[in-house]
Amino acid sequence: MKILGIDIGGSALKGAPVDSATGRLLAERFRIETPQVVTPATMAKHVAEIARHFNWKGPIGIGFPGVIHGSHILTSANLHRKFIGCDGGKLFAKATRCPVTLTNDAAAAALAEMQFGAGRGFQGKALLLTLGTGIGSSLCYHGMVVPCEFGHLPLHGKSAERYVSSSARKRRGLSWAKWGRELNDYLATLEQILWPELIIIGGGVSSKSRKFFPYLKTRAKLVPAKFLNEAGIVGAALSIGRHDVKVRR
Ligand code: BGC
Repeated sequence: MKILGIDIGGSALKGAPVDSATGRLLAERFRIETPQVVTPATMAKHVAEIARHFNWKGPIGIGFPGVIHGSHILTSANLHRKFIGCDGGKLFAKATRCPVTLTNDAAAAALAEMQFGAGRGFQGKALLLTLGTGIGSSLCYHGMVVPCEFGHLPLHGKSAERYVSSSARKRRGLSWAKWGRELNDYLATLEQILWPELIIIGGGVSSKSRKFFPYLKTRAKLVPAKFLNEAGIVGAALSIGRHDVKVRR
């Protein structure tokens, strides 16, 4: 099945058609930079522009950097506050006139990595972290992916992502060694409570793993994401149909 996967990030949106049977991108990805924090209405226009670029008429899977319940956005730590409470699925479906499935961006990345990437065939407990503008997280077990929010674990009175995300390293002007050691402490805390057997590091920084992996002394096996920064696009496409079950109240 061909699905348009779109990854909404803190500073850019990226999209490409994906073959859901293989996890391969079927065209070069299309990227729109968002230098300012944009409102839901503007974001919807950008999403529609991506769909138009590919002349898309079919299903669209979208990864969003926040807590998603059903098609609703519950948190927006690094994007506009107006997203909070918004029915993102409806908003983007209206803008593109296509059926849309909305998923947390790190859960999307985990789907891609567990099905076709660094976690392929692994049935034990895996923790996937995406280090970018924020820190995305998911736990994976026996083929299930559970979106988590470990980036908001308190550290020095704030969310850990304020100190150990990839953008925090740049903002704080830290060397790879200094940042690597702080990231190692954060991973040690996560290991203490989660005991993963495998840790997959994704996000933009995953292509630079050689620079900071030497400082990470995890008990679990540690690997960079295979899809690097493209896991979000592929996984968003794979998320189609997974949220169709309505919960009765
Ligand atoms: C959000 C998560 C998201 C992560 C990576 C965090 O600030 O709360 O939902 O997965 O950033 O984008």
